[in-house]
Amino acid sequence: MYEARFHKQLNSLKESGNYRHFLEVNKSAQHFPKFYYTDAESVTHSAVNWCSNDYLGLSTQEEVIAKLGFVTHRSGTGSSGTRNISGTTLHHHELESTLADWHHKEAALLFNGAYAANVTTLQTLGRNWPEMIFISDERNHASLIEGMRSAGNKKIIFRHNDIDHLESILNSLPIDQPKMVVIESVYSIKGTIAPLKEIAALTKKYNALSYVDEVHAVGLYGENGAGIIEQEGLQYSFDIVNGTLSKAIGVFGGYIAASSVIVDFIRSFGTGFIFTTSLPPAICSAANRSIQYIKENKELRIDFLANVSLLRQALEEAAIPFIPNNSHITGIPIGDATTCKVVASKLLQLQGIYLQPINHPTVPIGEECLRVIITAKHQVKHINYLAHSLKKILAAMDCIPSPALESTAVVS
Ligand SMILES: Cc1ncc(COP(=O)(O)O)c(C=O)c1O
Repeated sequence: MYEARFHKQLNSLKESGNYRHFLEVNKSAQHFPKFYYTDAESVTHSAVNWCSNDYLGLSTQEEVIAKLGFVTHRSGTGSSGTRNISGTTLHHHELESTLADWHHKEAALLFNGAYAANVTTLQTLGRNWPEMIFISDERNHASLIEGMRSAGNKKIIFRHNDIDHLESILNSLPIDQPKMVVIESVYSIKGTIAPLKEIAALTKKYNALSYVDEVHAVGLYGENGAGIIEQEGLQYSFDIVNGTLSKAIGVFGGYIAASSVIVDFIRSFGTGFIFTTSLPPAICSAANRSIQYIKENKELRIDFLANVSLLRQALEEAAIPFIPNNSHITGIPIGDATTCKVVASKLLQLQGIYLQPINHPTVPIGEECLRVIITAKHQVKHINYLAHSLKKILAAMDCIPSPALESTAVVS
């Protein structure tokens, strides 16, 4: 009975085109963004990765790798304990201190990922303050939604980046009503950037706490790479900042940075923080080295953003529509799960290009897209080949209006 029930649900997922297959992306540190995979006939192919979040290529950076190896040899692989029970080392403290300083906050707290940081922080704040109302952008990431949902507090959703809607909600609540505005700085699928200055002004005016997920911004924006909040000079305007160590920083883990009292509160009451083994010491040390590298090498961010412009220029020249935004995330709207998957698999099999289809539930039905993630390591030849390949495959499938594709040069 149980198995039949699970089969049924899996089958309906398959029928909807939303069943996920994981490609084995055997990364080559030397040749990133190239990788190797083996197909169903056991033939090995090389392809170019266009969906890695290793934005700056730091997961393959020699100094970061060396630090990981060095501390692993000295401290061993895992921490083997929760933070409270033998799982806190100098490396944890040093990294938390770096993160707090980077975000101009009094303190920071490490988690095993930004997902865990989001869920634990929102859940802990909500559960311990049941009157707190969450005011959440409709495009928030699953981890933010899950944190608020599992807290069980009242939640009000505002339209994506709609300041007027947000203000009308805030204005409808008593000034002394505990409330928290929860947003992302760079939205992970559409790549839109939140109007942070306006949101900061509103949270101040209406006496609300503010929580911002900077997962897709840390390492990439701002004078020291601390994110969009740094770029906008708003370090003192948001109460809690969430970030990841697993994307631009190229290592592993997540964190929050906030006032000492908020961090101490989550440290003391957050079950998702307390009851889990802490990050390995070497991971902390490597992440710390990577952040230093980011601070010292601004040109890496400049190269990365220049690559984003080159990519968009190439897509425009190939008449491939993409979702406009001011960030680095480039979404190509497809609008149907099955088509999205077919385009992606043709790109991989015929062109050696790995682009992940983004389907429901990551996006609402009808907003399925191919999300193109460029890194600082992609070269002009990769960009041009991607644009040509997309044009060729989309034209062959009648996926975009043919006038835009009439002059398509077919590249094999
Ligand atoms: C907006 C956002 N927040 C949080 C996360 C979770 O980050 P992590 O991989 O560090 O758990 C992701 C992951 O993709 C994300 O896109």
